[in-house]
Amino acid sequence: EKGGFDTFMAKEIHEQPQAVADTLRGRIDEQGQIVLDEVRMSDQDFRDIDKVFIVACGTSYHAGLVTKYAIEHWTRIPCEVELASEFRYRDPVLDRSTLVVAISQSGETMDTLMAVRHAKDQKARVLSISNTVGSTIPRESDAVLYTRAGIEVAVASTKAFLTQLAACYLVGLHLAQVRGIKYADEVSAILDELVAAPGKIAKVIENLDPVREMARECAASGERVLFIGRHVGYPVALEGALKLKELAYLHAEGFAAGELKHGPISLIEAGTPVVAIVPSPRGRSLLHDKIISNIQEVKARGAKVIAVCEEGDKITAVHADFVIETPASPTLLAPLLTAVPLQEFAAELATALGRDIDQPRNLAKSVTVE
Ligand code: M6R
Repeated sequence: EKGGFDTFMAKEIHEQPQAVADTLRGRIDEQGQIVLDEVRMSDQDFRDIDKVFIVACGTSYHAGLVTKYAIEHWTRIPCEVELASEFRYRDPVLDRSTLVVAISQSGETMDTLMAVRHAKDQKARVLSISNTVGSTIPRESDAVLYTRAGIEVAVASTKAFLTQLAACYLVGLHLAQVRGIKYADEVSAILDELVAAPGKIAKVIENLDPVREMARECAASGERVLFIGRHVGYPVALEGALKLKELAYLHAEGFAAGELKHGPISLIEAGTPVVAIVPSPRGRSLLHDKIISNIQEVKARGAKVIAVCEEGDKITAVHADFVIETPASPTLLAPLLTAVPLQEFAAELATALGRDIDQPRNLAKSVTVE
């Protein structure tokens, strides 16, 4: 049942190229338009939207954080991301022109369901992204896009996360299309890149040996691990840290790299591992320059820097102690690639510490209490 792998998590990491390909299949019609699964909203309803809220928990929340960058860039609609457990308690401003996007692998997470119900009470429209056909959250939503990850057994989410990203990109592009495309060329180029993503994810998976080696080294030192990123690399840093906490029971934290000097840099000691998610040196090179400065800052205080960067990024190779390369990708889509080594890093480090990879202590796959 584990298909020759030691754990379900390993199997599920390897299933990611297929899961993302399945999630994209048939969703882009011959005219290049994106097709949702269940839509109880008209195109005019979509055109009337003037604000998007994304609500989710845990890893699904991290998919939401990435999506904010994509939705605001492609559609110019303001988008906020909120932990579902906080959403309804702070009386958010919602009305008929608000779209609430609920992301939930299980479709049964109670916090997310309560956020959906609150949104509906306030007359907002709800679009859900879920991996479970017919589950409660999709049933209560106005529109649904299902991820097609297949059953995810391991408690730590891997293939569900990548398929959520793929589905979220489709939702962002759908919104852009329905509302009139400002960046028409960019949208069709992005669609081509999305379709190419499974092949690139497979390439990342083929090259995980160096990640495992690094993870075993970190396990031996028993140190906490810090993760830094900018732009969409920031939610990836949060996800890397969550995976490590969940699996290795080790203190790990993700930071927006720009925040280091506002406090967290005092955590750095000689030998502290810092995983840096480095954006492509092409295009938005300003971001790249900034994270190189952050790498220099932490190195100057003794950190051991593991950089996840684009292949051929010579500048990062000079500054980091260790480099994990991923194929070139548009900045907004890069999380589909950069999240994968962090999953393997957490799994290997936890294995070295003798943890139960598929069933970490204190955790359940689906959290159906608030
Ligand atoms: O089923 P959901 O997507 O609503 O679940 C949300 C979280 O409970 C889930 O992503 C959790 O954080 C994972 N175990 C993380 O790996």
